[in-house]
Amino acid sequence: MSDKQTVKIFDTTLRDGEQSPGASMNLSEKMEIAQALVDLNVDIIEAGFPIASPGDFEAVREIASNIRGATICGLARCNERDIDRAWEALKTAQASRIHVFLATSAIHREFKLKMTREEIIQRAVEGVKRAAGYCDDIEFSPEDAVRTEPDFLCEVVEAAIKAGATTVNIPDTVGYATPQHMGKVIIDLKNRVPNIDQAIISIHCHNDLGLAVANSLAAVEVGAGQIECTINGIGERAGNCSLEEVVMALRTRSDYYQHSTKINTERLVPTSRLVSSITGLQVQRNKAIVGRNAFAHEAGIHQDGMLKERTTYEIMRPEDVGLSKTDLVLGKHSGRAALADRAKALGYHLSGEQLQVVFEEFKKLADKKKEIYDGDISSLCEQEIRGEASHEWSLVSLEVSSGTGKAPQVKMTLRHGEEEKSAEVSEGDGPIDAAFWAIERITGLELTCKDFQVRSATLGRDALGEVTVEIESNGSTFRGRGASTDTVEATVKAVLDAVNRILFTAASKS
Ligand code: KIV
Ligand code: ZN
Repeated sequence: MSDKQTVKIFDTTLRDGEQSPGASMNLSEKMEIAQALVDLNVDIIEAGFPIASPGDFEAVREIASNIRGATICGLARCNERDIDRAWEALKTAQASRIHVFLATSAIHREFKLKMTREEIIQRAVEGVKRAAGYCDDIEFSPEDAVRTEPDFLCEVVEAAIKAGATTVNIPDTVGYATPQHMGKVIIDLKNRVPNIDQAIISIHCHNDLGLAVANSLAAVEVGAGQIECTINGIGERAGNCSLEEVVMALRTRSDYYQHSTKINTERLVPTSRLVSSITGLQVQRNKAIVGRNAFAHEAGIHQDGMLKERTTYEIMRPEDVGLSKTDLVLGKHSGRAALADRAKALGYHLSGEQLQVVFEEFKKLADKKKEIYDGDISSLCEQEIRGEASHEWSLVSLEVSSGTGKAPQVKMTLRHGEEEKSAEVSEGDGPIDAAFWAIERITGLELTCKDFQVRSATLGRDALGEVTVEIESNGSTFRGRGASTDTVEATVKAVLDAVNRILFTAASKS
């Protein structure tokens, strides 16, 4: 029997993670991620900020009603409307938590809230009490806690616990802390807040100095019982504490830490890929745990050592984080059951209808390339999962011709509902630029391309090419992703994905 304490993993990919520029997700995407988080075995899923928009409310409500196996949490400011709305969204969950927050640092009090210390305490207490009237699992966050005067932080935390907070979360909202500093903040709370034992201390670190994981570990070392984090570390600015890194640090250094988590670490890589695909935020190659190079050994000396004894250069086993050694190959003659099996093993929860669409796309792909790898299947599943928005505009046909010293020519037909619209363009800086012009002409939207990336889904020159675009429209950024063995077609799909998100966001705001 292990005498380690279990640290709760509070995942905020769907709330703080979604605050990454351009990372907004639609309902079916959020549901897919929520299910993946349950498969990963996180303790708490922060599903959104219900008052923020009708779309956020709907997502929290759907997740609360349908996802089982984790506590579902909704964020609220310390006011009646926010808290009531959060509860309205959460009330059908198997287990729900309301997370109320209020800034406490002098900078926020003075410039943002224009409130005195006394008013802050009163508002925090009222907020926690109102939330506690609805459910018995209440988290309170003094926003910008790390830059709050220590005496005042202790006072607020004590008052929040007295009012009914069962978890007190200490956010490093601007990523200002360093590990030793963070350790001191937690020790201080433990030593000076008389009722601190009545609540779990949680830690919420942003990564502005690249220290979010280190700061979270420092807090756990001195008694924090919950870590707030996101898949791939996505989030505002430089992001949040990365779930996969902090979990694997606790597991790999279990000789040092007295804490473990319940995370099913074999789901880390598939979950990372799912979130990357849905948000369009690519994972850097050398990212710890889930980057493509995280387990690649290049140097001859390392390879030699590895062959003699794996632990010479490897502190974790790739299979422990879900990197399969063998890519199971499917082909033209593989049936729907084999595809369904593989998709399930890769972590996709497809409905019968979705599986049918993926199977049809799989057959088309198998006609073009002999062997279909896991990366191809992931790509096809993800295209279908991102389907909700894509019902707006879709590609019907595309003809492209280009050559050295020749103006590109693009003939394109798109479908919008029952209607089909076409355009022919023979201008632009190349076929991709011409394709953008054609989409603008057909949809009537002005699109500014801020970023464009292509990469292959698998090995081989016949691999699916995955294109990610970042499009600016009306001052907001939207990402889109598309895959095809033809890069121009993949680009068109990616731009349409972004266009559909623009329209979806506009519709959910109106
Ligand atoms: O970073 C932060 O302060 C937050 C709070 C709402 C917890 O995300
Ligand atoms: Zn945050």
